[in-house]
Amino acid sequence: MSKEERVKNVNDEIINKLDKVNSLKELNDLKVEYLGKKGKVTELSSLMKDLDNDEKKKYGKLLNELKTNINTKFDTIKQNLELEEINKKLEEEKIDVTLPSTTINVGTLHPVTRVINEIEDLFLSMGYDIAEGPEVETDEYCFEKLNLPKDHPARDMQDSFYINAERLLRTQTSAVQARVMDANKEKSAIRIICPGKVYRREEDATHSHQFTQMEGLIVDKNISLADLKGTLEVFMRKLFGKDRQIRLRPSYFPFTEPSFEVDISCYKCNGEGCSLCKDTGWIEILGAGVVHPNVLRNCGYDPDIYTGFAFGLGIERVAMLKYGINDVRMLFSNDLRLLNEVNRIEGGDLDETK
Ligand code: PHE
Repeated sequence: MSKEERVKNVNDEIINKLDKVNSLKELNDLKVEYLGKKGKVTELSSLMKDLDNDEKKKYGKLLNELKTNINTKFDTIKQNLELEEINKKLEEEKIDVTLPSTTINVGTLHPVTRVINEIEDLFLSMGYDIAEGPEVETDEYCFEKLNLPKDHPARDMQDSFYINAERLLRTQTSAVQARVMDANKEKSAIRIICPGKVYRREEDATHSHQFTQMEGLIVDKNISLADLKGTLEVFMRKLFGKDRQIRLRPSYFPFTEPSFEVDISCYKCNGEGCSLCKDTGWIEILGAGVVHPNVLRNCGYDPDIYTGFAFGLGIERVAMLKYGINDVRMLFSNDLRLLNEVNRIEGGDLDETK
């Protein structure tokens, strides 16, 4: 057989085999078989050494054509096989979007956090700042600056956890108000709300030894009771619905004069009388009043120039009213059913208070 015939045979052989190749592995094996070190094409090249120059040229050209031809074929087939493999993989890994998914339980905000956020949003929109202070407070800021000197009988209303004679777990966030007034060196106007945890020695269905308060304070020139009433009206309507009326009842707090208990008209019966408002048509919700001159003086403000008002309420009580919770301890018992229910109320259109 002539060299030319051998080249043609090898060429036909490869083409024939390439036709039957089914995988990249087979293709690779074939490449080694023909183009590898001991491959059939390499073998053909070794015939060159016995040829004279003229023939070398002719035969060399033939061999080169063979190699180019084979390589192109290999490349094309390789590309096709790779594409096929990708398509096959895509087909196998196809996602069936109609399959039912596994449920993922997403957390939700605690009712107390929800109420805090709602109140903060409202007061920030009215130009108030949010102020915070320490939970372990001094007797001075928790009581004395607030017109409750040592041995004042009103301290009994807030019996507390003492660390030592001068330090205690704060019983009211009013302590933060005293701190902010004291720290304001220019003695300029103040407009703040103070959210935070407070502690008192009591515990039953409606009182917890730890609870959350939100107090508000304005100190400025020409602040009157009318400003307090208007602010509280906006506040209560935001929390309990736009039809709420408010009522101020005279009360006593050492740090305000006059002082009030503030009631809202019952949102369940609209003032007609029901079990929620104990047939009175009103629900007691906050304490408030005009800042006592002694408090202003104790914190470096001149009561002849500045006046102010303050109010305070318990966040848990608001949350209980808003979400129909009848035992304050439920808010701290880690029962997911409570969170889910509150989430359902806030997520749907079932909120009676809106
Ligand atoms: N600090 C009072 C309390 O804890 C609430 C209050 C705040 C009353 C501000 C009047 C003015 O009971």
